[in-house]
Amino acid sequence: MRVRLLLLLITASYSIQAQVTAFQYSSIKKSTGKNGAVVSAHPLASQAGLLMLKKGGNAFDAAIATQWALAVVYPGAGNIGGGGFMVATLKNQKPIALDYRETAPASASRDMYLDAAGNAVSEKSLYGHLSAGVPGTVAGLFASHQLAKLPMQVLIQPAIDLAEKGFVITEGEARALNSSRDAFEKYNTQIPVLVKTDGWKKGDTLVQTDLANTLKRIKHNGQKGFYEGATAQLIVDEMKRGNGLISLEDLKNYKAKFREAQLCNYRGYSIIGMPMPSSGGLLLTQMLKMTEPYPIGKMGFQTAASVQLMVEVERRAYADRAKYMGDADFYKVPVAELSDGAYLKNRMKDYQPGKAGSSKITVEGTVPGYESEETTHLSVIDNQGNAVSVTTTLNNNYGSKTVVAGAGFLLNDEMDDFSAKPGSPNLFGAVGGKANAIEPGKRMLSSMAPTIVLKNNKPFLVVGTPGGTTIPTSVFQTIVNIIDFKMSTDDAVNQPKFHHQWLPDEVFVEKKFSSQTWQQLQKMGYKITDRGQIGRTEVIQVLTNGRFEAVADHRGDDSAATW
Ligand code: DON
Repeated sequence: MRVRLLLLLITASYSIQAQVTAFQYSSIKKSTGKNGAVVSAHPLASQAGLLMLKKGGNAFDAAIATQWALAVVYPGAGNIGGGGFMVATLKNQKPIALDYRETAPASASRDMYLDAAGNAVSEKSLYGHLSAGVPGTVAGLFASHQLAKLPMQVLIQPAIDLAEKGFVITEGEARALNSSRDAFEKYNTQIPVLVKTDGWKKGDTLVQTDLANTLKRIKHNGQKGFYEGATAQLIVDEMKRGNGLISLEDLKNYKAKFREAQLCNYRGYSIIGMPMPSSGGLLLTQMLKMTEPYPIGKMGFQTAASVQLMVEVERRAYADRAKYMGDADFYKVPVAELSDGAYLKNRMKDYQPGKAGSSKITVEGTVPGYESEETTHLSVIDNQGNAVSVTTTLNNNYGSKTVVAGAGFLLNDEMDDFSAKPGSPNLFGAVGGKANAIEPGKRMLSSMAPTIVLKNNKPFLVVGTPGGTTIPTSVFQTIVNIIDFKMSTDDAVNQPKFHHQWLPDEVFVEKKFSSQTWQQLQKMGYKITDRGQIGRTEVIQVLTNGRFEAVADHRGDDSAATW
């Protein structure tokens, strides 16, 4: 009987890797291997990547296949209707940074989210057709394919299978889909397959036929299968039904861009980060360089002294973010000045151990509560000398909540990352001004921080996380945990995180944060607020014996795959 059941299961399912099927899988939180590693937000996506390594592909092949698969199995953040960033290192070559961030449509304008009284209306920038920027992911995957070895048709196939034949959803996915149900009904012109009338539960199968067809058009026509022809037309038709702005021209004109990586040294390690239009790499540079003069390792992990130092560092970096950072193709961002050692040392001159600093500024509007936030990070490494760190996003959970009818994918709500009005906070409470104001074709400022840390010029850590403005502080803390506090990779990922972003002048901590440290910080004058989880960090560490140790964050369905 048991054997028959097993046979039935095997024939009724299809395999994307010998022992893993779309109908039976589980999260692996830690795995080591000598040939390669992939760690991402979903077991099936990590397996799709691993499959490509086993087929002879490199880390770029694996990263691409993982992203295609995430667009199917992790619809809250994996995407083809959003955008992302990739940082990569290749053997004996300059590091690479690839920008496939969304752009503002050509007909977007500075005040498009203001009401008649001049107030920013966040519903417009966060939900529905008008909140979507021109998607960059598909262009990004094709640009990164220049560095891959296997044909794109091979890399996209697991995603097509997963969309066409379906896969079983996790408890977390069922919960997330159910809680977005009202929004899916409200912001769509045709009810998408993401809505199940009697509610989703763990183990239900999600089939996405329209998405499979879109992926097939991409498989057969390349990038044009998305940015031109039937898919582009479906996007524009959707825009017309819901008063959105994306046009055929916007889609045709979209370009992913290779950029110079944001580099810094920290205690002898080289940190490779994402440059503008993400603030991620520059914030990381600033935070690490402000920390470097202090013996933080001796202060101890999450003692009041070390947290205070890191909070003050975070405060100052985020104040600079609000004032100076935006798309450098449109606004002159003083990157060299902001990463200058003397400038950063001076920035800390009013830091007083034992006494809370102050953000000394008032903002208009209220800082919204931290909602569920969805972006997704994947880290990949191979045995050919390549390391790839990718963070992609729809912005909020399931993006704008609008699915392109007939094409089956969610559109981002990335327009909210612009500063709709000087001083008016976005979803993540981030404020900005001219540097990040809306302009046609401009990329909205991001916090995403896909990062690679080199030791003796070889990959040591591949790291990143989702979490909006908490991304750079989480990556900062993960790196300090490993380099200064000498923590294991697991602890560095899974121990509680904290966050300060200049405004609001508050320290946000995860629920398991030490109550003793909390009390001591309060005595110093800090306002502390506990909140939901911070990020889902995926790290690969290259061990001294050369093996790859991949750790997937315990905060979600995240899963590691190595061989
Ligand atoms: O680019 C950014 O900074 C945001 N749109 C990222 C959003 C995010 O991380 C949501 N995730 N958890």
